[in-house]
Amino acid sequence: MSQTYKSIRISDDASQAIKDFTLPEDLAFGKVMAPVMIEADYANGKWGDFNLVPYRKLTLDPTCKTLHYAQEIFEGLKAYHTNGDGPFLFRPEENFHRFNLSAQRMAMPDLPRDGFMDGVEAITKYCSHLIPQSSGDSFYIRPFMFATDNNLGIKPSETFKFMILASPSQAYFSSGSVKVLVERNAVRACPGGVGHAKTGGNYAASLLSMIEAKKAGFDQVLWLDAVTKTNIEEMSGMNFFAVYGDKIRTPNLSETILNGITRKSIIKLANHLGYEVEEQEMSIDQLIADIKEGKCTECFACGTAVIITPIRSLGNSANDIIELAHAEGPVSMKLRQELLNIQEGTGEDPFGWRISLKD
Ligand SMILES: Cc1ncc(COP(=O)(O)O)c(C=O)c1O
Repeated sequence: MSQTYKSIRISDDASQAIKDFTLPEDLAFGKVMAPVMIEADYANGKWGDFNLVPYRKLTLDPTCKTLHYAQEIFEGLKAYHTNGDGPFLFRPEENFHRFNLSAQRMAMPDLPRDGFMDGVEAITKYCSHLIPQSSGDSFYIRPFMFATDNNLGIKPSETFKFMILASPSQAYFSSGSVKVLVERNAVRACPGGVGHAKTGGNYAASLLSMIEAKKAGFDQVLWLDAVTKTNIEEMSGMNFFAVYGDKIRTPNLSETILNGITRKSIIKLANHLGYEVEEQEMSIDQLIADIKEGKCTECFACGTAVIITPIRSLGNSANDIIELAHAEGPVSMKLRQELLNIQEGTGEDPFGWRISLKD
């Protein structure tokens, strides 16, 4: 008889796969996959069982709709087990809500809360001995859902697969701050589109600019709004902040910006630490002028993977770059450390964000 964890059925071969797995020494980020995964199928208007099964390849019909029409969504969150304390999840309920918002936008069925939350907990608990324990390391968890109807008609799928993968990972950016290219031509998202949904097409659309940015010596792309191409939106996988003394500014949310959970957490944390946070339209040209005049001394990007990554410079091209006064500024680094302390369980958690999965 299979075991269960809350609403999740644990297959017998899942326990064996975990026993047979040896964690490699060099993990990097998102490269080594946990030996088990969660799987559930949707058909005839309802979800079937949610199962923890061994990690294995999928067999897809070549007409699987996702491969052609990209009806797909995903999430990313982390569990921490720093110095053997934990594991702790960070605000998983937020990821669940955002997952269902993405599902609605992409004409996909809602996922039941138990399937998502119990699935995230089950894979974390069953693999807790595989979570690396140095500060900054984590268990990166990737829930996703995709269309599984097999035919080439352009219409919404009626069948779907939900899965959760996980990856024991080292810190995303091992060192340093990033050089950012301001993308003045291509756009990531437009009003009425899907920019606020976490769906693969948004990321595919960003890759060409990423290649061009790397060729010109940059690490990341900063996207501007599609209509006026004057206001800052976000990066390809991170939200954007600028520091003005004891004020911190970030673009206000819109349907073209992903509502980042790290962004939301930093706004609360920064307020708690005495900073004023302004969510407002941010003109890129004004920001550059403010950096030149020394009014803005730090910029940083934030997201689950990186937590906070300080920005070293902003540029329009390889020959037109402006350096920030601080490459790893005191405000960015302080917020990063304070947030990490909450996530890893080494600091107070005044907001109740940390979910303990200790036995
Ligand atoms: C486009 C985009 N913006 C921002 C973020 C940051 O969101 P979060 O802090 O929830 O990871 C992400 C990552 O999920 C993203 O893909």
